[in-house]
Amino acid sequence: MKIKKIIFATGNEGKMKEVRMILKDLDIEVLSLKEAGITAEVAENGATFEENAMIKAKEIMKMSGELVLADDSGLEVDALNKEPGVYSARYMGYDTSYTVKNQNIIDRLKGKDGGERSARFVCAIAAALPDGRMLVTRGTMEGEIGYEERGENGFGYDPIFYLPEYDCYSAELSLEIKNKLSHRGKALRMMKEELIKLEEELQ
Ligand code: IMP
Repeated sequence: MKIKKIIFATGNEGKMKEVRMILKDLDIEVLSLKEAGITAEVAENGATFEENAMIKAKEIMKMSGELVLADDSGLEVDALNKEPGVYSARYMGYDTSYTVKNQNIIDRLKGKDGGERSARFVCAIAAALPDGRMLVTRGTMEGEIGYEERGENGFGYDPIFYLPEYDCYSAELSLEIKNKLSHRGKALRMMKEELIKLEEELQ
């Protein structure tokens, strides 16, 4: 049996663009929540990125009866006990600007240098199959928290995320390069491999 349709549980058009780009050669129709006619909000109350992605994927799968993918992502700063972690979007309040959130993280790392500023972006992607099975993948992008904001691209914590390997900030990367290196890109490509295996198994 061939997988014909997938719902990706997001309302974010930027994510949909990236998802469609990575999954395009699978010949599967990929719908956003809006395109699938689903308006429900799912609470992200899990303790890990994986849990949140699974909660979202399962809820939407139950509503739609289709194969559903969902993601959850965030920033982990080692010296801050992996904060903001699953609270990345909610850190200091949803409505607080990222200029303020980013400066707060820089301030909390005062006196720390080099490896003491290690951090990573994490993305978990879950697939909820209509038969009840779940698949989960995780991708990370390793780096350090910089000393100031740099770059105009990206969003969220990108302007303070320094990639030592490339000697630049995440907000200085083009979208194309970021998708190649990013936590989300990696998790998505791993999920693509899982979906290919699933199709072979269903045949
Ligand atoms: P969500 O996965 O859409 O819930 O996003 C979680 C939050 O993590 C975002 O609102 C950002 O604050 C942060 N985040 C996740 N991925 C990135 C990224 O690639 N760059 C910058 N911030 C990110």
